[in-house]
Amino acid sequence: MSNMLGARRRLCLLQVVLLLFAAVLLVADACLTSEYRRKLEATVEMPLDADVFRVPEGYNAPQQVHITLGDQEGTSMIVSWVTANELGSSTVMYSEASPDPEKMELCVEGTHTRYDYFNYTSGFIHHCNLTNLKYSTKYYYAMGFGHTVRSFCFTTPPMPGPDVPFKFGIIGDLGQTFDSNTTLSHYEANGGDAVLYVGDLSYADNHPLHDNTRWDTWARFVERSAAHQPWVWTAGNHELDLAPELGELAPFKPFAHRYPTPRRFAPAATPFWYSVRIASAHVVVLASYSAYGKYTPQWEWLRAELARVDRAATPWLIVLVHSPWYSSNAYHYMEGETMRVQFERWLVAAKADLVVAGHVHAYERSHRVSNVAYDIINGRCTPVRNRDAPVYVTVGDGGNIEGIADNFTQPQPGYSAFREDSFGHATLEIRNRTHAYYAWHRNQDGDNVVADGVWLTNRYWMPTDDDTS
Ligand SMILES: *[C@@H]1O[C@H](CO)[C@@H](O)[C@H](O)[C@H]1NC(C)=O
Ligand SMILES: *[C@@H]1O[C@H](CO)[C@@H](O)[C@H](O)[C@H]1NC(C)=O
Ligand SMILES: *[C@@H]1O[C@H](CO)[C@@H](O)[C@H](O)[C@H]1NC(C)=O
Ligand SMILES: *[C@@H]1O[C@H](CO)[C@@H](O)[C@H](O)[C@H]1NC(C)=O
Ligand SMILES: *[C@@H]1O[C@H](CO)[C@@H](O)[C@H](O)[C@H]1NC(C)=O
Ligand SMILES: [Fe+2]
Repeated sequence: MSNMLGARRRLCLLQVVLLLFAAVLLVADACLTSEYRRKLEATVEMPLDADVFRVPEGYNAPQQVHITLGDQEGTSMIVSWVTANELGSSTVMYSEASPDPEKMELCVEGTHTRYDYFNYTSGFIHHCNLTNLKYSTKYYYAMGFGHTVRSFCFTTPPMPGPDVPFKFGIIGDLGQTFDSNTTLSHYEANGGDAVLYVGDLSYADNHPLHDNTRWDTWARFVERSAAHQPWVWTAGNHELDLAPELGELAPFKPFAHRYPTPRRFAPAATPFWYSVRIASAHVVVLASYSAYGKYTPQWEWLRAELARVDRAATPWLIVLVHSPWYSSNAYHYMEGETMRVQFERWLVAAKADLVVAGHVHAYERSHRVSNVAYDIINGRCTPVRNRDAPVYVTVGDGGNIEGIADNFTQPQPGYSAFREDSFGHATLEIRNRTHAYYAWHRNQDGDNVVADGVWLTNRYWMPTDDDTS
């Protein structure tokens, strides 16, 4: 009797194992359009008197503080902030030892700029490049000397190397709605060390006259994260602020003045493509709204940059771009196609690991696919599975005022692994040279819930591993 029960139990167990195995096989080749979708309701901007927009107290207090990497190696950090009443000091004091601004022993003098946009005049925008920093080191820093001093801290990224763990946050198209606040709060709770930001920041241009006070409120809103860890910026279409009807003919004027990048400190110079090396990642930032045709500066730069990537030193090759190359959403359909045609073959040849885009206000992840065989007469223009190809994710789902992109094309194309109409953010946790855990978190869940997660294996060290099949 007990033997029979035991046998039956073993049989059950076997069945369960077989079922699980079958399920895994099914899932392995699946295209999933998630049933879960965000309730269709308006995305509402937080009111001007919301807590997140509060101007810090004190005369001429530094506000909108944010940091980004100052060079490719991660030993410089650019600190930016705005003073509203008068110019004030552009000095940053900093220290490894002391959180007390009076006792900070290192000092660097920054520069300042300001700009007019129609009838708006910006505050004084300060930028200061802190150089010769040590790796993996906590620094306290302060500014506003002579008026109101505020202090913050950041930890520099670890020295680049093949097995250096690091956790990135991935956010796009954030805006400044109540949903944006949820996205940022969930990211903070999930605890990354730096943010890969894939473009479209404030959505100021959705307001009459591109109301640039919305650039100010946005920067005050994200200060709680961006003052403490570097955000790596990508330019989106909402950074263009090109408005001939307002006499504004210079593209990217507010963005270029406010958000320096490692390649762009003086507001006069505006290359929006650049790269940084963080831990075991080489991150290439591309500009969807700057020229990328053959022989253009961006095209020349990317070709040379991909040759400079040393995968033995930094195994993870990650590319950021605003307009996605593989998106099956009806919104902004195929807008990224010309750039895909221009650059995809280079990324496949380079065995890039991951391409992250924003722009489309929904979430999507692809299998490893490429579409590079076509040559104008051969008719081979369908994406095919390709283990040399990157995984493409679209995370334009930060929650901005324009709402959700709730119209996926039907049926789901074979290259699309997972797609969902929800707001959220992603994280990429690099463990070592071979493994990284990528996860997407929808806002409806608790911050720590993974709605779509996949272990990525490195294309340089494990080129034949079928990680996303
Ligand atoms: C935004 O989120 C933060 C942190 O969760 C919270 O303290 C704050 O009250 C929120 N503000 C608004 C306007 O929702
Ligand atoms: C700019 O012009 C608009 C429309 O005429 C007006 O409502 C707004 O108050 C002006 N802003 C400033 C800073 O003068
Ligand atoms: C910051 O300083 C470092 C070290 O001098 C330099 O290499 C880098 O180009 C500077 N960054 C900017 C944006 O000026
Ligand atoms: C969804 O997109 C299709 C094109 O793929 C379009 O024909 C249709 O009108 C769109 N539906 C809505 C509700 O926007
Ligand atoms: C890399 O990390 C993965 C996931 O944590 C682990 O399974 C693997 O053994 C690690 N590889 C090495 C060489 O440590
Ligand atoms: Fe966009």
